[in-house]
Amino acid sequence: MATALIILAAGQGTRMNSDLPKVLHKMAGAPLLVHAMAAGATAAPDRTIVVTGHGGEEVAAAARAHDETVEIAHQGEQRGTGHAVAEALPLLEGFRGRVIVLFGDTPLIRPETLRAMLAAASDVVVLGFEATDPGRYGRLIVHGGHLYGIVEWKDATEDQRQIRLCNSGVIAADAALLRRLVAGLDDRNASGEFYLTDIVAAARAEGLTAEVVTCPEAETLGVNTRADLAAAERAFQAAMRAAMMAEGVTLVAPETVFFAHDTVIGRETVIGPNVVFGPGVTVESGAEILPFCHLEGCHISQGARVGPFARLRPGTELGGDVHVGNFVEIKNAILDRGVKVGHLSYLGDAQVGEHTNIGAGTITCNYDGVAKHRTEIGERAFIGSDTMLVAPVKVGARALTGSGSVITEDVPDDAVAIGRARQVVKPGLSAKLFEKFKSETVRRQKEAE
Ligand code: UD1
Ligand code: CA
Repeated sequence: MATALIILAAGQGTRMNSDLPKVLHKMAGAPLLVHAMAAGATAAPDRTIVVTGHGGEEVAAAARAHDETVEIAHQGEQRGTGHAVAEALPLLEGFRGRVIVLFGDTPLIRPETLRAMLAAASDVVVLGFEATDPGRYGRLIVHGGHLYGIVEWKDATEDQRQIRLCNSGVIAADAALLRRLVAGLDDRNASGEFYLTDIVAAARAEGLTAEVVTCPEAETLGVNTRADLAAAERAFQAAMRAAMMAEGVTLVAPETVFFAHDTVIGRETVIGPNVVFGPGVTVESGAEILPFCHLEGCHISQGARVGPFARLRPGTELGGDVHVGNFVEIKNAILDRGVKVGHLSYLGDAQVGEHTNIGAGTITCNYDGVAKHRTEIGERAFIGSDTMLVAPVKVGARALTGSGSVITEDVPDDAVAIGRARQVVKPGLSAKLFEKFKSETVRRQKEAE
């Protein structure tokens, strides 16, 4: 059956106390909205509509950046969840199939939960959960396995407020039915809003069926404050760590490793404590990430060893068995198989051939204050410690640069390049020099008196 997704993201999120629209705050490196879209995408929707309002342009841009086929409905004034859905429905005119409504600020819904909702046979299906603290959630009125209605906290009686089965906000229904029910909503309630939740009682009144599918409370966490955002991050990380370990990745101290939403790691890779993954990292199997590394937008091949204390920035690709050691920063650089860059180096906008050794303290001087330039180093080269490679520059295969060199001109294959002042040695001078320094110190002290 054809499926359409409507994601509500028009709310202001006042309690975030932020200039950024709420749904653009990030969890695991991606906006909340993107998490909601990704969760919805697991239901293989034919159409996805995001309802924007506050910060509409920005929110629409983020939605399109994630999925260029997304459609945007703008809700000029936030008059409730039912009104928000009504604003999206014209885009679905003529659409036949079912509609799932998700909230853009509810990022932890799992694919199996949506599958269970879509497998349910009732006309209206609501995702509910047993709340430890039901607070102000809408309450689900259930008798004999049937859902009769949803009562918002503000409108609930004292007895209804005792109900712990709550509304997550996720609702699924046939498109034509949803269109008819939403058209019939009114705003005669405590909030003066059009409640999407009222479609349940309306469907029952027509003799249609409604039911609740439940999921663990953790999944339905909606982000309203920055504390909620931190709680969502915590829950996401816990789930991701468990999934990584189940997939055969060793985490020495799981609670200290932070993943991005899209981190991919192969089996038998070992991750040490305090490693942070930004977005866009893929690690092949059998690699080793030692403690205190920060990785973002990079690919690490089989057998590579990174860290401790390494920083890999976007555009970094490490070939098989590459070794990147402590206090090394790499950006937009390809290191072919077997390259070693062991200590205290910066490689930016560079290409390094197989089995080349980069000595400690090597720096690619890639930026001249205006533009970035490339450094190319051939295979099996030896870059002496403390070499400055002033880009654009090429060092050939099997070439060698002397320690402390400033390399400003290309070095041919098999050549040796030394670019530093020649050393001067003056026998017996050191004692005299120290005497001179001492007398100068005494003179300065006298002058100061
Ligand atoms: C809603 C539900 C409540 C449920 C709770 C779960 C209704 C009437 N109530 O309440 O039963 O327990 O979520 O978190 O649906 N939005 C719009 N346009 C609007 C209003 C809201 O796009 O005009 C979006 C918000 O940006 C948000 C979502 O819809 O993503 C939920 O809105 P919110 O105001 O937070 O609803 P709650 O009062 O929490
Ligand atoms: Ca809410």
